[in-house]
Amino acid sequence: MITKKRTAILISGRGSNMQALVNAARAAEYPAEIVLVASNRPEAVGLRWAVAQGLATLAIDYKTYPSRAAFEAVLQTALEAAGVELIALAGFMRLMTPEFVDRWRNRMINIHPSLLPSFKGLHTHEQALAAGVRITGCTVHFVRPEMDTGPIIAQAAVPVFAGDTPDDLASRVLEAEHALYPAALSLIASERVRCEKEKITFFEDVKQETALFSPSV
Ligand code: GRF
Repeated sequence: MITKKRTAILISGRGSNMQALVNAARAAEYPAEIVLVASNRPEAVGLRWAVAQGLATLAIDYKTYPSRAAFEAVLQTALEAAGVELIALAGFMRLMTPEFVDRWRNRMINIHPSLLPSFKGLHTHEQALAAGVRITGCTVHFVRPEMDTGPIIAQAAVPVFAGDTPDDLASRVLEAEHALYPAALSLIASERVRCEKEKITFFEDVKQETALFSPSV
């Protein structure tokens, strides 16, 4: 029996990356178990899916809290109560305070739909098309206080084809996200990733293609 890292997923919407993580975590040998799905938006579609799966869920309506810190205090209490060791942000659309981020330093990861450091923020696929890049992709990184920054753990490359619309690109990248995120969480949960001086190194047994790949799409 392997010891699984107790992991929370934070969402705000659709939750397709959450589904990819939950489905991956069903495998007996997967090194993380999903012990909590929390959303800052009670109406998040993904939350309904998580409830239907019988997962522990929590909706913390950020609008009812006077400050970010007050919202995060409730979240932190829930994370502690569930014995959470790792947090995976999956389409979580709320910036965290530096205090919260520091508390979860190197234990909180995010997925972003571009090859960071390019195209941070919103409308990443529009940004990629406007820049005319031929390859885009997605990135899993440790979270730092500044949005879409932090040591890069894993990336997947995705081609941009002539005539692509932002939606075409979004769905091609999303497919890669669903492969990359479970692979990256697995690396972290199995403690095969080291972050020193903001640089990521892997333990020797980690194959390059685990963290840097171009899924066939
Ligand atoms: C994904 O593209 C993710 O990279 C970004 O927000 C989107 C969330 O999609 N951070 P979903 O909720 O996981 O379907």
